[in-house]
Order: sequence, then structure tokens, then C-alpha cells
Amino acid sequence: EATKDALLTKIADKIPVSSDRVTVVGSGQVGMAVAFSLLTQNISNDIVLIDMVEDKIKGEMLDLQHGSLFLRNANITASTDYAASAGSKIVVVTAGARQNEGESRLDLVQRNTDIMKSIIPQLVQNSPNCILIIVSNPCDVLTYVAWKLSGLPKNRVFGSGTNLDTSRFRFLLSQKLGVSPNSVHGWVVGEHGDTSVPIWSGVNVAGVRLREINPNVGTDSDPENYKQLHKDVINSAYEVIRLKGYTNWAVGLSVSSLCQSVLKNTNNVHAVSTSLKGFYGIESDVFLSIPASLGRQGIGEIVNMPLHDEEKAQIKKSADAMEKVQKDIAF
Ligand code: NAD
Ligand code: LAC
Repeated sequence: EATKDALLTKIADKIPVSSDRVTVVGSGQVGMAVAFSLLTQNISNDIVLIDMVEDKIKGEMLDLQHGSLFLRNANITASTDYAASAGSKIVVVTAGARQNEGESRLDLVQRNTDIMKSIIPQLVQNSPNCILIIVSNPCDVLTYVAWKLSGLPKNRVFGSGTNLDTSRFRFLLSQKLGVSPNSVHGWVVGEHGDTSVPIWSGVNVAGVRLREINPNVGTDSDPENYKQLHKDVINSAYEVIRLKGYTNWAVGLSVSSLCQSVLKNTNNVHAVSTSLKGFYGIESDVFLSIPASLGRQGIGEIVNMPLHDEEKAQIKKSADAMEKVQKDIAF
């Protein structure tokens, strides 16, 4: 310490780093994209990586730490031991198998449920006040599984859900209309993935609804075939997986936007997966996405969307499909 003591004269004790700890479980493609987005956008400067493969997380931790010069006072740690995650404000779960080419998200359900069983209790034990965000697939069913295993109230466990599908939808609309994705408003709700539901009745730019201009927008009788955009949303993940083997950047950004709303307590509204019991004729704890406000409490409110009969029927159909899958899970 001699050099340090000669260089620096101590005036006061330092205050330890941040109180905005985010633990990311699973340091694969998705987990690392989440961590990178959180750090580079200054959403959290206290990131804990947890995985079961020791060399992999150590390598990821060192690689990120070596970029600290370009971040703001980042504290990046990694461990296979859940004790390292203690005191997290948010835990993002990305651990588990991903789809191979041709597999659907639902094909992963039992494999990833087994993983949830091994990790959720340890996470809650170490961070009893955390908000739990589930990203692993099938995202909606696993959010239900994680909620059950965690014993946490419903507002504190949600899935990243169709926040990503909505982002894909707004990107594709923005390409067709030539304005930025931020300026095209529209929501995709329901299942993250194959049976997601686009709410065409609400799609608007500056409050001008496309339905008022083109009453058939999003339907089979639309001569401009806007409906194809939603088909492309559903196909997005399959296309990217076919081309590069996995998806990660968009989901990383989408999940970090959820973390931002929670940590900064903004009450921004996002489409996230939560129990729809009591909504749209759904009678059991089926988790699907619906617009909800997010803050330090987790989910604050759900937006009561006045859906058309066809949209309600589509959500009910997704819910029935989810319930069937949930019934067969062993946990
Ligand atoms: P990946 O194979 O690159 O990474 C998965 C990581 O999980 C690996 O590092 C593995 O070691 C770790 N892991 C496995 N079992 C574990 C356990 N018991 N404890 C701790 N860590 C464990 O996969 P990926 O591409 O990062 O995808 C991860 C998951 O995210 C998949 O289920 C994928 O389908 C899903 N995903 C979801 C969305 C979404 O929008 N919800 C988007 C993309 C991917
Ligand atoms: C997605 C993943 C595969 O990118 O769920 O949609």
C-alpha cells in the first residue's frame, strides 16, 4: 500500500457501490445480451452473472470487466453460487435450453421447468424482495412455474412476454410507414410466440388510427395485406434461429427496458406476461402478456384493453392452449 498511501491522502470512507443490483441467471447468448444492454445503457452498474458453467461465467465476467473504462463505475461479478446474488432488486432468468431449428418454444417446457425447480428457490432465498423477470422459454408457462415455485406475490413475478413481439411489430410497421418505431403505436399481446395477438384496432401514428383510414387493416380483406406484418412477427424468431442459431440482441434490449422501468420506478407500460385470471373469460392462473405499468413494485396496473370479439376469442384460445400445457407439467 506504500505507493497508494504516498499518492492519495484519505479524507473520508467511501460509500459502497450501488443499490440497483441486477442478477442475470444463465450466461448464454440471451443472458449476456441482457447484461450488456443494462451496463451500456447505464440502467444498472451492479450486475451479477450466475450460471452452472464456471469457466464460461468467469470468462464473460473478465471480458466485461475489461470494458469498465467505458462504463460508469461498474461492479461486475459472477459465480456458480447463488449467495453472490444476495440483495438483488431484479433477477432476470435466462437459464435453460433454447430451440433447435424446427423446434417450437413449447417443446422446451419440461426441460426448462426442471431447471426452474433448481434455481428459483435459491434466488428467492437470497433476494426475498426481488422482482423476478422470466425470459427462458416457453416464457409464459415458465413464468407461471416460477411464480408457483417462488411463493412471491403476482406483482413481483412476470415474464418478458410480448414486449419483444411488440418491438418486432413496431419495427416492421415503421419500415412500412417510414416513421420511427417510437412513433408507431401498437401492441402484440397473448402468448410470446406462435399464438400472439396483434391489436390492429389500436395501431396508430400520432393518435391517427390506421383502422380509420383503412377499415380492413390487419384483416384478410385488406388489399395492402398489413396482416403479413404480424405473420412476420411470429416467424421472426424462427427466421433468426435459422440464420444465426439463436436470438439475443433484441431480447436483450427488450428485457433491459423492463429493468429500466422497474429500477427507475417509471410506471411505463409494457406488454409483459402475468396471470390473466379474471380477464377475458379466463378462469385459471394462465400467464399471458397484456400491457401493464412497471415500477419498483413490479406490476402496478394492468391496462383494461377494450378488445374486439375476435381478439378476445384469440386470447381465450391461447389461454386454453397454455392451460393444457400447464396441466401436464411435472413440478
Ligand atoms: P444458451 O444455451 O446460449 O444459454 C443458456 C445458459 O443457461 C447456458 O449458459 C447454460 O449453462 C445455462 N444453464 C442451463 N441450466 C442451468 C442451470 N440449471 N443453472 C444455471 N444456468 C443454467 O441459450 P440462450 O440462447 O441464451 O437462450 C436462453 C433461453 O432464453 C432459452 O430458453 C431461449 O429459448 C430463451 N429466449 C427467450 C426469449 C424471450 O423473448 N422470452 C428470447 C430469446 C431466447
Ligand atoms: C424469440 C425467442 C426465441 O426471439 O423466444 O422470440
